[in-house]
Order: sequence, then C-alpha cells, then structure tokens
Amino acid sequence: MQSMAESTTSSIAPPDLRNEFKQRARDQWSANPCGANAADGFEYGSRDYFEAIEKYRYEVYAPWMKRVIGFDEFAGKSLLEIGCGTGTDLLQFARGGASVTGLDLTPRSIEIARRRFEVYGLQGSFGIGDAENLAFPDASFDAVYSFGVLHHTPRTARAVEEVYRVLRPGGRAIVMLYHKSSLHYWAGLVFKHGLLHRELFHSSIADIMSRRVEHGSDHARPLVKAYTRAEARGMFSAFSGCEIIVDQLTRRELRPFGGLLPDNLFRRLARAFGWNLIIKATK
Ligand SMILES: C[S@@+](CC[C@H](N)C(=O)[O-])C[C@H]1O[C@@H](n2cnc3c(N)ncnc32)[C@H](O)[C@@H]1O
Repeated sequence: MQSMAESTTSSIAPPDLRNEFKQRARDQWSANPCGANAADGFEYGSRDYFEAIEKYRYEVYAPWMKRVIGFDEFAGKSLLEIGCGTGTDLLQFARGGASVTGLDLTPRSIEIARRRFEVYGLQGSFGIGDAENLAFPDASFDAVYSFGVLHHTPRTARAVEEVYRVLRPGGRAIVMLYHKSSLHYWAGLVFKHGLLHRELFHSSIADIMSRRVEHGSDHARPLVKAYTRAEARGMFSAFSGCEIIVDQLTRRELRPFGGLLPDNLFRRLARAFGWNLIIKATK
C-alpha cells in the first residue's frame, strides 16, 4: 500500500449550493458527520475514534452490510464513492484493494475521510463535489458506490444518470436509497409520527421525513426521499442489468413480537420490508 502522503484532496467540481436543499445537506453533515456520534468520548481523528464508528456500523447498525455490499470484490478496480461521508465504507473498499476516490458535498466529511485514510496509511483521492454534476469524464470508473446519499439530493434521477455516465461499459453501480414500501416508512413515519402524533394534520410526509429521518443537533432538515422497488428500477433502466436487495430492519421496530421471532422469519421480513433498497446495476 502506498502512503497517504500520495493521496490527493481537491475541489473536484465547485458544487452549486444555490439550491436550498444542498445548503441544508451541507449544514446537516457539517454539524453531524455521518456515524460520528458512535465515537463520542474518543479523541477526534484518533484510531479509536474511527474504530468506534466502524464497529458500530458493521456490528450494530447494519450487520448485513459487508455481506451484501461485497467490499472485497473490487481489487484492482477504480471505484468512486459519491457522498463518502467520514469514509467508513470507502476504507473497506481500499482495504479490499480498490483504487478509491471519495467525493462529498460537505467539506467537513472530506476532511474527516482524508484523516481516516491517513490514520490507516491507505491511499485515496478525495474531493468536494456534487452528485448531480460529477466533474469526471465519461467512463472514468470501474465501479460507483453511493450509500444513503442520492435520496438527499433534489434531482436523484439526474444523479443516477451521472453514475451511468462516469461508469465504464460493464462497470458496476451499487446505490442505497431509502425504501418506501418498508415498515419504517409506513409504521414509523406515516402511522406513528403522521397519524398517532398528528403531524400529518399540519405538515406533509416530506416534512416529516425531513424532520425525523436524519437526526442532528442543528435542525438543518435535509431533504429525504424514499423509493419503491419499481421507482428505483425505473431510474436505473438505462443499465443493462439491475438487481435490487432490501434490508435494514430492527427487532425493535417489530415490537412487541420482535424479540420472539425466529431468525429465519426475521431475516425474511427484513428482506421484504427493510428500510434500505440496495440497487446493484451493471452498465
Ligand atoms: C447520510 S450521509 C451518508 C454518508 C456515507 N455514505 C455513509 O453511509 O456513512 C449523506 C452524505 O451525503 C452527502 N451528500 C448529500 N448530498 C450530496 C450531493 N448532492 N452530492 C454529494 N454528496 C452529497 C452529505 O454531505 C453526507 O456526507
């Protein structure tokens, strides 16, 4: 592995922040870098700090992730992550032997991701940029990855077109979007907050999602959207192949029966009604 001294950080494309939602996204993730609350109490930027974020993500928050994403499948390939946040997943791809580029709208995310690579002595390229307007030539990457990002940008379909454009023919996209036909959407957001707490009487479901899905100290209220499998397939229709996997459900969401369900039934429910729609598409 080459050392971080060779890594680069650049403003890949000056993002257009005239859109209110893009500014809100920046505010949200500047104040609350993704996953960083799992490292409360550790010195910022230390190895312990990053290990706490990583441990929480793959052991508590989404234990299915390493298996479903396949971080080791891109050895020797060039991989772009759009919305890399603090670089947790990007680091796994780099450890798996991919040549990685991390891009994010929020300068603070890039600063943290870069620091993370430095701590582990891994090489990566980093830049500030916008998913809707990638400053890379056509067919630049073997793989494009984006987890929990494109549903926060106003023109999600446009961002998917950009993913397609920068992929080489035969290249692979892995994109996670929030899943509308999920327990979290219908039971948590629509029923609990919308009807039980009567929020739908004075605000829209879009407002509820913006308030409730991404928590933060600064109340930035970023844009949050969710998609059905059919809507996701529609956005990825230019790709030659598209597989959709659903996951991310907690036993807590299935209260009062969650703790009693056998593992195999719980897994089947997660695969049907989980909150994450993982789209794996080939150009
Ligand atoms: C929920 S975090 C996810 C971060 C990371 N993928 C993860 O799973 O830990 C969303 C990230 O997307 C970034 N983001 C939001 N809109 C974006 C856009 N239009 N272009 C690039 N990044 C964006 C935010 O700055 C933030 O770092």
